[in-house]
This record gives sequence, C-alpha cells and structure tokens, in this order.
Amino acid sequence: MASSELVKKLEETIENVPDFPIPGIQFKDICPIFLQPKLYEEVIADLASFSRGKVDVVCGIESRGYLFGIAIAVALDVPFVLIRKAGKLPPPFIGEKYDLEYGSAEIEMKTGHIKKGQRVLIHDDLLATGGTTEAAAKLVAKQGAIPSQFSFLINLKDLNGKERLKKFQAEVYSILEY
Ligand code: PRP
Ligand code: MG
Repeated sequence: MASSELVKKLEETIENVPDFPIPGIQFKDICPIFLQPKLYEEVIADLASFSRGKVDVVCGIESRGYLFGIAIAVALDVPFVLIRKAGKLPPPFIGEKYDLEYGSAEIEMKTGHIKKGQRVLIHDDLLATGGTTEAAAKLVAKQGAIPSQFSFLINLKDLNGKERLKKFQAEVYSILEY
C-alpha cells in the first residue's frame, strides 16, 4: 500500500495531456517519473512489496509494462518474461487476440519460459478497459500457470478494467486511481 507522500509525488509528476492521442482522451504521461531516479526507486519498492513472496515469475506487457516490470522482478529475485505485441518474437510462442475500441490487437509470449503451476504477477503501467491485461492473463493460463496477481501504476477506474479481471480471482493493485 503506497504512502500518501508517494501518491502525492506521483500525482504531481505525471503529466495530464488533454486530447491525446485523440480528442476527448486525457493522456497520462509517466515519462517525468524517469527524470527522478529516487522517485522511480520508491515506485519499484512499493510495487515489489505488493508481490514479495507471492509470485514465482513477473510478466510485463510491451512496452510501458517493461519500464517497471523488469525492476520489480529484479527486486523480487524472480524471472521476468516479456509479453510482446504480435510479430516480434521468434517461435515457439502463443498468441491471444483482443478487442480495441476500434479494431483488434494481438499479444504474444514465448512458450517454455513459464512453468505449469507457477504463480505469475502480470504487470503493466496502466489499467484502462482491461483488454490488454485480460489477454495477457489468458496467455499465462493457457500454459498452465496461474495469473495470481495484477499490478499497475495507474487504474482508470471509470473504464472498469478491474471488473474484467475478476474472473481470474487474482489480487489487483494500483498505486494511483483516477
Ligand atoms: C496502453 C497501456 C496499457 C494498455 C491499457 O498501452 O500502456 O498497456 O494501453 O489499455 P487497456 O486496459 O484498455 O487494454 P499501449 O497499447 O498504448 O502501448 P504502449 O504500452 O506500447 O505505449
Ligand atoms: Mg501498454
């Protein structure tokens, strides 16, 4: 559970960009966090404390899920596995399609990098509709592992992503909610 100071610092640091990438959307720009190494360290410590002792593997979702995901895995001393956008990974891999507001997308993951029965943290920077994270959890479950935790820097709660993740009966954590 993040301290109120950490939440406040992040709220002051993350930039709200109106009408990006399309009119009506308010974009949360997390890049300024990386200008402050101490703040970044605090974010990793907080996300790692949510998962310490509870997961065997961390999966991060391309691309912004990598920015924190690898550091969380190192802090927990567990392996990190990449979930990539389609077309980037050499075989063998499995894929999962999911719907976007307009059209669809696909993510992929190497097979053999997570093992049956392992407890997996799926991490991404942002939970919006939950479509991306749901597809990632399906990739993990398809390999006989357990998507047992989800963590995010930010949850855009009006988009109800958490509802969509309920079926996995996993713990969900975000430092910030808007
Ligand atoms: C953003 C964000 C999450 C996803 C959340 O990624 O980083 O991965 O959207 O949306 P959802 O909950 O509605 O699925 P994006 O696809 O923009 O790409 P990026 O991480 O490579 O910047
Ligand atoms: Mg992303």
